[in-house]
Amino acid sequence: MVDLVIGTQWGDEGKGKLIDLLAGNYDIIARANGGANAGHSVKFKDKSFAFHLIPSGVFSEKAQVVIGHGTVLHLETLEQELNDLEKEGISVTGRLFISDRAHITTDLHKEIDGAQEELKAGQKVGTTKRGIGPTYADKMNRIGLRMYDLLEPELFEEKLRLLFNWHKKTLNIELNADEYLAKYQKLAEKLKPFIADTAYFLNKSLKEGKTVLVEGAHGVMLDIDHGTYPFVTSSNVISANMATGLGLPPQAIKDAFGIVKAYTTRVGSGPFPTELTDALGDQIREAGGEYGTTTGRPRRCGWFDAMVVKYAVMLCGLTAINLTKLDVLDKLETVKFAVGYSHNGKKLDCIPASLKVLEEVEVEYLEMPGWQQSTAACRKFADLPQAAQDYVKKLEELVECPIRWIGVGPKREETVVR
Ligand code: GDP
Ligand code: IMO
Ligand code: MG
Repeated sequence: MVDLVIGTQWGDEGKGKLIDLLAGNYDIIARANGGANAGHSVKFKDKSFAFHLIPSGVFSEKAQVVIGHGTVLHLETLEQELNDLEKEGISVTGRLFISDRAHITTDLHKEIDGAQEELKAGQKVGTTKRGIGPTYADKMNRIGLRMYDLLEPELFEEKLRLLFNWHKKTLNIELNADEYLAKYQKLAEKLKPFIADTAYFLNKSLKEGKTVLVEGAHGVMLDIDHGTYPFVTSSNVISANMATGLGLPPQAIKDAFGIVKAYTTRVGSGPFPTELTDALGDQIREAGGEYGTTTGRPRRCGWFDAMVVKYAVMLCGLTAINLTKLDVLDKLETVKFAVGYSHNGKKLDCIPASLKVLEEVEVEYLEMPGWQQSTAACRKFADLPQAAQDYVKKLEELVECPIRWIGVGPKREETVVR
């Protein structure tokens, strides 16, 4: 049995927290897509951790953790995360499995990411500059380096030199191959024990009756196909890609839990219909600590958008929702949310492909009274102030998916379970 946790907006909805909360109920926690562009925070024993590559479920010490072939791995970041966990006394020996087919993000890819952003001039995506797009592009160009290659030093050297020469010729970007070969030799020694055929491992585990929780990265509106292209990331984010990125049969998936922030945020460029560019937007950013986990950039903030979340429910077949950060709205006098879009007087059914249209949509809002009291101590739905209950129920009705958990603070226990 496989369940998924999927970001439904523009990322940073609070996926890490639910993964950490649920991890103890599963045998295996797995990442299927993206790389160190993801930043998933977990509050553990009053300390904050930010995971970029290792699944956030790693604090559940009985869980096995898998990084699937659909991810792209910056090995220096991976090593750093392993060291950080070691310092906390969290051992991953014998329980971390990294796909032999996952592609490697090198520093060269990070350089390319930055250089390509410069070339885009006024059309910058606002990437995290973690080399994600260039790594996936090299994978598709069939010149990428895979984790398996680390196990065959001669093959690795041949492939690395080809890759470095390729980018020297095409983009005139050059890094010292000899230096990197020496560095990767050391990294290979450290990572070798974790490299495995994870698709086989996962499928064998499912046959043995084990359960898997997949930690999606990013959010549906950043999906390479379904998001606000080209202002998206370079992987698919929707449920179906969780099967692809791990080599799991789609019918093994049971539940898909959507993570939905009680308002909306976005980092980087691109249209954002409910964005608040005024003092209220700043107030929400400060109340929610809306600064990027990976890059520290201030996140753009706006009202909840039912058009966006309905789109995610549709594309991902979501079976339940974790509404997060409800507490961030505690002080507001009124709360608003988008219920529909129209363009030139015509109502839109869904998110349009045209960014121009999305930028120009007239947003239809619904306004409700705020609750103006703290929700942080609430643990049951009935504990929430009536106006907060009404807000949750209205969102649920609009997006047509049950809201099972409500986040009222960053800590594991600061969750209302319905
Ligand atoms: P992710 O990328 O989806 O895992 O989300 P991030 O970790 O990038 O950003 C979410 C932030 O919100 C983190 O700092 C979490 O600790 C915090 N957070 C998660 N859920 C809640 C919540 O219900 N209330 C509050 N106040 N903070 C939360
Ligand atoms: P998590 O998993 C928020 C955004 C970047 C940029 C665009 C492309 O923490 O929710 P990239 O570096 O991927 O090429 O950047 O995508 N982006 C995210 N925004 N949360 C994320 O991940 C993101 N991953 C990518 O800000 O706009
Ligand atoms: Mg994040």
